[in-house]
Amino acid sequence: MKKIQRIYENKDYQYYLREIEKMEVNRVYCKHDMAHFLDVARIAWIMCLENEIKYNKTWVYACGLLHDIGRGCQYATGEPHEVAGARLAKGILEASGFEGNEIEFILKAIANHKNKAIANQQNLDGILYRADKASRACYTCESIELCNWSMNKKNLKIEV
Ligand SMILES: [Fe+2]
Repeated sequence: MKKIQRIYENKDYQYYLREIEKMEVNRVYCKHDMAHFLDVARIAWIMCLENEIKYNKTWVYACGLLHDIGRGCQYATGEPHEVAGARLAKGILEASGFEGNEIEFILKAIANHKNKAIANQQNLDGILYRADKASRACYTCESIELCNWSMNKKNLKIEV
């Protein structure tokens, strides 16, 4: 998992994290921080194991850590964060030692992680989509009434 530590220590990654943190300081909804990124990575990996989908664990964790890295761009310019995220993640992946088709797989999953059309796919794209949604503990959220997620999208119970 050295590549994952390299992502975390990457200067650009740390910069984007800090930018998101500053922009979300007054956000009353779910934040996009390391806790969320690791929740998504771990849930996605559990989904892979439970469904016997054989992806490299490093790819799954890279998706978790990088999928929302474009949030700062979205707040600043309105660019969809999955589009910005795929663009920003490319250089971080290359600098962290990822190569060729593994970069393509990870970037495609990041670019698709808001795409409802792929939500049920049994591949890295679908797993990242579902892990992202499953990671949010709406049942504990004080802003649940204000949140724009539809009631059937919100996680209202602990699913086991
Ligand atoms: Fe997310």
